[in-house]
Amino acid sequence: MPEEAHLAPIRAAIHVKRKRMTVVHASASGGTRALVSAFCAGASRVDSVDVVTRSASVCTEQDLRSSDGLVFATPENFGYMAGEMKAMFDRLFYRMMLDTTDAGGGSESALAGRPYAVIVCAGNDGLGALQSVNRIVTGWRMTALCEPLIARRVGGEAGSSRGAISARDLEAACELGEAFATAIELGIA
Ligand SMILES: Cc1cc2nc3c(=O)[nH]c(=O)nc-3n(C[C@H](O)[C@H](O)[C@H](O)COP(=O)(O)O)c2cc1C
Repeated sequence: MPEEAHLAPIRAAIHVKRKRMTVVHASASGGTRALVSAFCAGASRVDSVDVVTRSASVCTEQDLRSSDGLVFATPENFGYMAGEMKAMFDRLFYRMMLDTTDAGGGSESALAGRPYAVIVCAGNDGLGALQSVNRIVTGWRMTALCEPLIARRVGGEAGSSRGAISARDLEAACELGEAFATAIELGIA
């Protein structure tokens, strides 16, 4: 038997599936997008984890199911997550719930135990957006893997919702990306 044929089953046995994490995001004026870019730059330092970004408006059931970890990145609008993010949860929440009895009586989450993180871009304290995301993913029984990142825009003009994202917050997003991807790689959570 040629050497290659001998090795094929061994290679197949030790094949390790690459892990994948998805960043679901919404951003009207670019602040959250900048944080997501920094997060992805940090995550890309971890070789064995693929990082995918999905706009909340096109995020699918399969995007969520196929991810070993999920990040929800949203601005705070009117004390809540962005409308696109809420619409994503409205669209997909029950699709993640599995019937657990023949009669369809019980249900459990397909995402139970799956690690997640939250990134909020806000003009103020951002807590309303954070809590609104946490409340819904708690229903999916997901596991918070790390502290949320809340970035507050600074230096905007009076009456404007825009200002700069500080270098410190961008650095924190980058570090969070690396830490989250490392935890996914190691199977923590
Ligand atoms: C319609 C609207 C409502 C907002 N409401 C809040 C709010 O309730 N709390 C807050 O901290 N910031 C609020 N902001 C500020 C945004 O959170 C902030 O500008 C954020 O950076 C926007 O993120 P983005 O650039 O990713 O769209 C609001 C902005 C807009 C446009």
